[in-house]
Formats: sequence, C-alpha cells, structure tokens
Amino acid sequence: MPSFHLSAWLLLASLLSHVLANPVTSLDPRHKKHHDCTKPKVFIISMFPPEADVWYGIPEFDLLARNITVPGLSPLYPDAHCTSNGEVCQLVTGESEINAATTITSLVFSPLFDLTTTYFLIGGIAGISPEVATLGSVTFARYAVQVALQYEFDAREIPDNFTTGYVPQGSTSPTEYPQSIYGTEVFEVNEPLRQLALSYARTATLNDSAAAIAYRANYAKSPLYTAGSQAPGVVACDVATSDVYYSGALLSEAFANTTKLFTNGSGLYCTTAQEDNATLEAMLRADLNNRTDFSRIIIMRTASDFDRPFPGEPATVNLFYADQGGFVPALQNIYLAGIKVVEGILGGWDTTYAKGVNATNYIGDIFGSLGGKPDFGPGSEFNNNPVVLKKRGMRRGRRMGVALARK
Ligand SMILES: *[C@@H]1O[C@H](CO)[C@@H](O)[C@H](O)[C@H]1NC(C)=O
Ligand SMILES: *[C@@H]1O[C@H](CO)[C@@H](O)[C@H](O)[C@H]1NC(C)=O
Ligand SMILES: *[C@@H]1O[C@H](CO)[C@@H](O)[C@H](O)[C@H]1NC(C)=O
Ligand SMILES: *[C@@H]1O[C@H](CO)[C@@H](O)[C@H](O)[C@H]1NC(C)=O
Ligand SMILES: *[C@@H]1O[C@H](CO)[C@@H](O)[C@H](O)[C@H]1NC(C)=O
Ligand SMILES: *[C@@H]1O[C@H](CO)[C@@H](O)[C@H](O)[C@H]1NC(C)=O
Ligand SMILES: *[C@@H]1O[C@H](CO)[C@@H](O)[C@H](O)[C@H]1NC(C)=O
Ligand SMILES: *[C@@H]1O[C@H](CO)[C@@H](O)[C@H](O)[C@H]1NC(C)=O
Repeated sequence: MPSFHLSAWLLLASLLSHVLANPVTSLDPRHKKHHDCTKPKVFIISMFPPEADVWYGIPEFDLLARNITVPGLSPLYPDAHCTSNGEVCQLVTGESEINAATTITSLVFSPLFDLTTTYFLIGGIAGISPEVATLGSVTFARYAVQVALQYEFDAREIPDNFTTGYVPQGSTSPTEYPQSIYGTEVFEVNEPLRQLALSYARTATLNDSAAAIAYRANYAKSPLYTAGSQAPGVVACDVATSDVYYSGALLSEAFANTTKLFTNGSGLYCTTAQEDNATLEAMLRADLNNRTDFSRIIIMRTASDFDRPFPGEPATVNLFYADQGGFVPALQNIYLAGIKVVEGILGGWDTTYAKGVNATNYIGDIFGSLGGKPDFGPGSEFNNNPVVLKKRGMRRGRRMGVALARK
C-alpha cells in the first residue's frame, strides 16, 4: 500500500534528518558522560500494554524504578522503564510496523542509552500455525519475513492457475522469487544465541487455560494439525510480519509458502505478528552506526490464537467468535519463559554474554548490509556478492522500481 509505505518513510526520513542535524558527539555513546547514559544488559521490547504489564510487579526486578522519557517514542508510551541500576530496561513500541520502526529507531539513536552491548528480547504474542505449534507455545525465530510485502489481487480476481492472490514484487507468479527487493523482506538473527534462549525457556513451567485445552483439541481432527492439538511447549520456528492481520487456512498457507520462498527453503513459518521486521530494520541501521550489536537479538513470540480454523469451522468463527483461550496463557508465558532468558543472560554475563555469543550463521538482512552473504537470498549490494542493481520501469509506468538481479 503505497500511501502507507510513504507515510512510514516520511516519518523515518524526518527522524533521520533530525538525527543527522545533531552533532555526532551528542549521538555517540562513547562521548557521553557516564552518569546520564544508561547501559542496559537486557532490553525487553513489548508491542502493547498487556505484553508489558506481565513484567511489572514481579519478584525478580522492578522495571518501574526508573522511567526515562525518550524523544520519538509513541505519545501513548513515551517512557522506557528500567531497573534502578539500569541493567534491565523495557518499552512499548505500539502495534504494527510503523510504530515499531519509529520507536526502535528513536531508541537506538537516542543519546540517553549506550546499547552497544545490550541484548534485545522481543517478547510479544502472535498468531500460530497449528501445523507447527499451539496456543500458549513459546517460539524463538531465526528468520523474520515480511510476508505481505507483495502485490495482492482481490480474491475475486485471482487468476485460475494461481494458488493465492499474493505475488512477490517484481514477479508475475506467486512462486517466483521476488525480483524487486526493498531490503526488509527477510532478517536472520544469531542462531547460537537462539539455541541458548531456547534452552533457558525450556526450564520454565508454562501457563495454560481450560478454554485453550478445549479449543486446541478440535485440531486433532486433521493429521496436519497434530502439533496444534498438543500441549504448549517451547519451539524453534519463524515469524511472519504483516500489518494486515490475516486469518484463514488459505492466506496462512500462502504466507507459509512465502516464508519458504523468501528464505530459499530455510524458514519454518509458525507465528504471525505485526512488528518484527520493522524492529529488526531499525536495529540493523543502528548496528551499521555502531550503536547496537545485531548479534544480540532474540525474537520470542508466544501463541495467543490460531491463524486458521480447525477442519469444519468457518474462518470467521475462528477469528471473531470462538473462545480460543490462548490470550492469557500467551501473555503469562512471555514472562514465564522470558524471565528465564533474562536471568540466563544476567547470570552468564561475565562468563559469556559481556563478550558476546558469536553467530555461526549469517546474520542481517537480505542485502547483506552487515557483511557476509545471506544464506537465503540474493546477497549484497554493499560488498562483493554477485548481485547487480538494475533500474527498471514498473508495468504501466506507475513508478520506477529498483530491482536486484543475479549476474
Ligand atoms: C514510572 O511510570 C509508571 C507508569 O508508567 C509509574 O507507575 C511508576 O510509578 C513510575 N516510576 C517512577 C519512579 O516514577
Ligand atoms: C519481516 O518479518 C517477516 C515476518 O514477519 C520476516 O519474514 C522478514 O524476514 C522480516 N524482514 C525483516 C527485514 O526483518
Ligand atoms: C497462468 O496462466 C497464464 C496464461 O496461460 C500464464 O501466462 C502464466 O504463466 C500462468 N501462471 C502460473 C503461475 O502458472
Ligand atoms: C495461568 O495464569 C493465570 C493468570 O495469572 C492463572 O489464573 C492460572 O492459574 C494459571 N494457570 C496455570 C495452569 O498455570
Ligand atoms: C502452497 O504451496 C504448496 C506447494 O507448492 C501448494 O500446493 C499450495 O497450493 C500453496 N498454497 C497456497 C495457499 O498458495
Ligand atoms: C563503526 O566501527 C567500525 C569499526 O570500528 C568503523 O570502521 C566504522 O567507521 C564505524 N562506523 C560508524 C558509522 O561509526
Ligand atoms: C568470536 O569471534 C571473534 C572474532 O572471530 C573471536 O576473536 C572470539 O574469540 C570469538 N569468541 C568466542 C567466545 O568464540
Ligand atoms: C537457494 O538455494 C540453492 C541451493 O539450495 C541455491 O542453488 C540457490 O542459488 C539459492 N537461491 C538464492 C536466491 O539464494
């Protein structure tokens, strides 16, 4: 949706021009006096108040001990919240891609924080594919895929030989790898760090509800949905980002296919949410400016609702009317699993986390902006990867697109 993207871009552009207008010394944490610059070990990212509330009033630490107003945050959620020693902080971005991008950009370029060694724990709820996991499950992603960054036809105009109305940009078929790349299609985060987070989370006793137990039992009707019918657990699988809150078997399958396509077969679609790619793009730009470390990001999404109905149930009933019972357990499990991850990082700070967990996999975006060659996509326009930038006119001359193509 061009106007949507344009407004996001204008917001980002105005933020960046503000940043660039300031002298470098006021932005660089190394030039900042120590006393007014907070250097957290862990920063928790919540997307809306229910995800944040589970972190307040807990026995382990008090995030409301210090409130730090950060210019550029949402007017609804203007403060970052920190423990009195500044070791653990947390904020609310507001929901969807534009809120996530602008809030995280403001945070990572704020002179109030030194985030160069900070671990970021994205902790939010999400829709879940019953092919992979169930209500209440806690997932950790390696890939975040912007699945709705595509062309779309209305369902009534989909060609007979297409399986979905979504077509990757620059392509003419749903199964063709995107020919026009914006750079935010796929992000990949540190795999060894994800494995550590998974191991910490597996020590948690997860919350569940009677309604969720009853609802997920319906998914046993299909052998494809065995995972959806079983008790919640801790699962390694990937997140889809889309501003559109899609629902139903066909769109969910289409975006699972998109995840595979965009990650060249490596990604396993399981959760759907509205922010992670935007958050990751902001963090990538901050890393390029030595303000954050992209190898210190954990994407945890807990499952609040199924992305599609069980066999025989109308898609509208699953989305609008059914009591799925997953919302409260998903929120509880952000804390129950997330606290194990936070404690793991704090407890292992001196031995492991201060110096960092080396990524053994590629990390970064689809361009290869941080160096290295993406193991899922076309490679970099910033180093020696075999990719050329090709300007080309879009059909009907609507606008110029920039397309990436292999040599
Ligand atoms: C921080 O803000 C929260 C509300 O967001 C408030 O409950 C808390 O008392 C504040 N803490 C301090 C130290 O002012
Ligand atoms: C954006 O998120 C989607 C999934 O929501 C993910 O597939 C994609 O890789 C992400 N892109 C970026 C740049 O983070
Ligand atoms: C669908 O059919 C049209 C017309 O025959 C053809 O040009 C196109 O390649 C087909 N697309 C797919 C995805 O099969
Ligand atoms: C789940 O959390 C809710 C809300 O805190 C609580 O009432 C319920 O007892 C918990 N259930 C389990 C099984 O842990
Ligand atoms: C997803 O891909 C599979 C395998 O290519 C295909 O059979 C199916 O129709 C696709 N689903 C959708 C909704 O596009
Ligand atoms: C980031 O750090 C690297 C290595 O120290 C340096 O080469 C680069 O110029 C720095 N970039 C910025 C934007 O400060
Ligand atoms: C991580 O990689 C760096 C650079 O390759 C190396 O110097 C360092 O020893 C590695 N750290 C660990 C813990 O393996
Ligand atoms: C996808 O992976 C195959 C090998 O599995 C490789 O030959 C191909 O070049 C990759 N495609 C992209 C777009 O990276």
